[in-house]
Amino acid sequence: MAERPHDIDATMAMLAAEDYVCGRALGCVAYLSLALGKPLFLEGEAGTGKTEIAKALAAGLGRRLIRLQCYEGLDAASAIYEWNFAAQMIAIRTAEAAGGAERGALQDELFSDRYLIRRPLLQAMEPHAEGPPVLLIDEVDRTDEPFEAFLLEALSDFQVTIPEIGTVRAPEPPVVVLTSNRTREVHDALKRRCLYHWVDYPAFDREMEILRARVPQIDARLSAEVVAFVQSLRDLDLFKSPGVAESIDWARCLIALDTVSLSPEVIADTLGAVLKYQDDIARVRGSEVARLLDEARARLGSMT
Ligand SMILES: Nc1ncnc2c1ncn2[C@@H]1O[C@H](COP(=O)(O)OP(=O)(O)OP(=O)(O)O)[C@@H](O)[C@H]1O
Ligand SMILES: [Mg+2]
Repeated sequence: MAERPHDIDATMAMLAAEDYVCGRALGCVAYLSLALGKPLFLEGEAGTGKTEIAKALAAGLGRRLIRLQCYEGLDAASAIYEWNFAAQMIAIRTAEAAGGAERGALQDELFSDRYLIRRPLLQAMEPHAEGPPVLLIDEVDRTDEPFEAFLLEALSDFQVTIPEIGTVRAPEPPVVVLTSNRTREVHDALKRRCLYHWVDYPAFDREMEILRARVPQIDARLSAEVVAFVQSLRDLDLFKSPGVAESIDWARCLIALDTVSLSPEVIADTLGAVLKYQDDIARVRGSEVARLLDEARARLGSMT
């Protein structure tokens, strides 16, 4: 198990070693979250590195990553544990067919570890040889309020009681990262237990750094054009602005097409890597592409 970083710089360095580039503000909340054992609540636009930081933290700390992907209708059973009903039924049928099985023994057996399906929250509370895992509760805004209330409780005690088996208590609380795309406001009570950080689109230099880390084979000039163009797109009032994930995908597409430098033609051909809504694509395609490219180049020119 790797040592927990002892300050903000060490936290940022640990993340950088996992190819995760973050500014000081995010580095600071990440460090504090580890130092104080408080969950980290990250809210922000899509594709800005909210999920990725949990992966980088787990890899950097040498801990297991356990992910609870939230969705509408997610309930406690799917988040903590369930009994494997189908396997229990088969066991009952088999015992019946064999005859003579002792009912009491079968009953105990049916509610033993063997038939328990461990869902992410239970997994996160069990002991792990390498130390407490990183628990990623991803896209919490997709769940409903009752589930949030349940999470609130789970995050305060880090223990789960299974009536048939007993109480499972985390020997040490996991490192918790919650993310939200803010499709709705998450309740204050949940946020209050966490350290909050809004993950914004990165500034030019940081996005360049991210591309260097994630697409190391890219030429610096093409990378600068990609970032400047994507940043110009973000200034438009699009239905869905491109995130960092899109910049990375686009860069990879351009490399696959042996692109040396952006042109209106290659941009029009590859817009689908950057924009994911037909209305946005229709708006940008055509004369707007050339204008945006000029704007992006002017942006680059003013930097040199
Ligand atoms: N700061 C960063 N450093 C390195 N890579 C990054 C960074 N931010 C984003 N990325 C890259 O962008 C991709 C998308 O990031 P991620 O999935 O974490 O976004 P997200 O904020 O969780 O988006 P969504 O809200 O859509 O889930 C990652 O796979 C990663 O490669
Ligand atoms: Mg995500």
